[in-house]
Amino acid sequence: MTALELAGVTKRFGRTTAVDDVDLRVGDGELVALVGPSGCGKSTLLMLAAGLLEPDAGRLCVDDRLVAGGGTWVPPEDRRVGVVFQDAALFPHLRVADNVAFGVPRGRGRAARVAELLELVELPDLGRRYPHELSGGQQQRVALARALAPRPSVVLFDEAFGNLDHALRASVRDATARALRAAGAAGVFVTHDQGEALAVGERVAVMRDGRFEHVGEPADAFHRPANRFVATLLGEADFLPGRQSGDVVDTEVGRLAATPAARGEVEVMLRPHEVVFAADPAGTARVVRREFRGATYLYTLRLPSGATVRALVPHTLDVATGTAVTLQVEAGHPVRSFAGR
Ligand SMILES: Nc1ncnc2c1ncn2[C@@H]1O[C@H](COP(=O)(O)OP(=O)(O)OP(=O)(O)O)[C@@H](O)[C@H]1O
Ligand SMILES: [Mg+2]
Repeated sequence: MTALELAGVTKRFGRTTAVDDVDLRVGDGELVALVGPSGCGKSTLLMLAAGLLEPDAGRLCVDDRLVAGGGTWVPPEDRRVGVVFQDAALFPHLRVADNVAFGVPRGRGRAARVAELLELVELPDLGRRYPHELSGGQQQRVALARALAPRPSVVLFDEAFGNLDHALRASVRDATARALRAAGAAGVFVTHDQGEALAVGERVAVMRDGRFEHVGEPADAFHRPANRFVATLLGEADFLPGRQSGDVVDTEVGRLAATPAARGEVEVMLRPHEVVFAADPAGTARVVRREFRGATYLYTLRLPSGATVRALVPHTLDVATGTAVTLQVEAGHPVRSFAGR
C-alpha cells in the first residue's frame, strides 16, 4: 500500500503557484525528508496532505483512498494523517496524558492507549506533568504521541525539530523515527538542515519553486544530484570546468573518472571531502583560506586559473594560508558532471 500519494497536485495563492503539479508517493512506513529553500512550498505541500488546504488541481490519496481531488474532500480528522509543527502547540492547561488522550477515541482502554503512546515516545513517566514543566524536546515528543494517537498512516513534520539545539535535535529525531517505526506510520519531515535530511530520510525530496528537482535515496542525491541546485542544497560543492569524453573528464586538477551522463564542455562537482592536498613548494595551487571545524579544517585552495576548490581534511593537516600545495581528487567513485557551463 501507499501511505500517501500526490498526483499532479497544484496549489496557488493569487499569482503565486506554491505547489506546482507535484507527484509524490510515500510508501507504508517510509520516512521521506523534504528540503528546499524558504518559500519553495514545503509547508503548503504538508497542509495539502493534512487537509488544511484544498488543492486547485490534482489528487491526494492516503492509504490508497482518495481524500482530495476529483470532487472528493475528506476533512483532516478523517484522513489518517498526523501533523507535528515546529511549535509543539500542546494545550497548556491540560496534563501531558490529557494532551495525548485528546486524539484517542473515548471509551474503555483509553488510559492504556495513552500509556502505550507515552511509552512509544519514550516518556512513560511524564503523563501527570503540564506542558510548561517539559523541555522543548519532551514537548515535541508529546506532540508526536498526540499525533500518533488516532493511528495515522503518515505523520507530517514541519520543521518539528527546528527549535531544538543540535545535540537534542538528533536524539529527538531518532526517538521520533523509532516511534514511527513501532507505530508502523510513514513520516514526511520538512527540514532546513541538509545533514538532517540525509540522515533521517530513507528518501529525500528536494523542492524548488513548487516542484521537485530530485527525489531519491540520500546517498544517490548527495553523490549524483539531478542538477547543481540539488548538489549545493545537500552539501558543500564546488564546480570545475572540464571536457568530458565517455567516462573520463579532463580538468585543471587532472583526469577524473566521471558519470557518463554528460559530454563535451561540462562542469564537474567536487565535494570538499573528496579533495586531498599536501604542502609542496613546487605546487601550483595555494591555500587562500582555512576554517576550523573542530575535527576538520575546511581549506579553500586557489588553482592557477583562479578557480577555487575546498578541501575538508583532518585537523592534523595544519597548513598556513599562502602555502603552495598540490592537490588531487579522491572521490572513491566517478564524479558527477553536468552538461554545459
Ligand atoms: N496563505 C497564503 N497566502 C498567500 N501566499 C501564501 C500563503 N501560504 C504560502 N504562501 C506563499 O506560497 C509560497 C510557498 O510557501 P510555503 O509556506 O509553502 O513555503 P516553505 O517552503 O514552507 O517556506 P519556509 O521554509 O520559509 O517555511 C510562498 O511564496 C508563500 O509566500
Ligand atoms: Mg514552511
